[in-house]
Amino acid sequence: MLSAMSESKSEATGSPVENSHTAYRGRYFDARRAARYAGKQNHTATHRREMRCLSKALAGLPAGSRVLDLPCGAARLLPELLEMGFDVTAADVAPPMVEEARKYAASLGLADKARFAVGDALNSGFKDNEFDAVICNRLFHHFSEREIRVAGLKELKRISSGRVIISFFCNLALDGLTFHLQNALRSNKSVDRIPIPYGEMKANVAEAGMRVVGVYPMRPLISRQWYLHLER
Ligand SMILES: C[S@@+](CC[C@H](N)C(=O)[O-])C[C@H]1O[C@@H](n2cnc3c(N)ncnc32)[C@H](O)[C@@H]1O
Repeated sequence: MLSAMSESKSEATGSPVENSHTAYRGRYFDARRAARYAGKQNHTATHRREMRCLSKALAGLPAGSRVLDLPCGAARLLPELLEMGFDVTAADVAPPMVEEARKYAASLGLADKARFAVGDALNSGFKDNEFDAVICNRLFHHFSEREIRVAGLKELKRISSGRVIISFFCNLALDGLTFHLQNALRSNKSVDRIPIPYGEMKANVAEAGMRVVGVYPMRPLISRQWYLHLER
């Protein structure tokens, strides 16, 4: 897998990349691309399904808890997280995306209700235990290598004093199997967004020093997007 990824080009710099983390992190460093992404999923059925999974994974976390949304994208989750009473920080590796997040929050009159920051999920710059919970929505399916997933999980664990909530793409779903079948038939095989076995993700979580305490498939048996509630 590493050799396949090394043939990719960084979307930010055009230079060869070493792994899926460096290949993906620059995707929204272009302001026009970030603007095109912003708002696409707002108020969709997918958004509502994702929020249902996240609400289950956040159940029991008291109002006032410090919650980090990393990567926040254009802050799609922010209104609901604020409604739940959390003290929210929205961060993303791409500065133009953080600008989109600020703009969206401002459009809802929420700009001064949250903090915004630039940070990489593998090296966030936040302090140890700075948050009570860290949410990582729609990033791990871009991490194709075990070592990148484990490095990401370790960083999220370091900055959360409590739970870590991630989404990832799991094999145990109809659209996960379809992906593998279609990919097997393609001459130009995809190396991104690859659904992985649940056992593999669970092993990555254990390697990062955490355990799975909640599993929430977005649409059981149909959708590959799953949510995990992790604790130390
Ligand atoms: C598919 S979007 C999801 C955004 C948001 N979580 C949502 O659900 O709307 C992926 C985001 O990850 C950001 N990103 C990519 N690599 C990253 C990294 N290494 N650390 C933090 N953010 C990253 C991108 O800039 C982009 O905003």
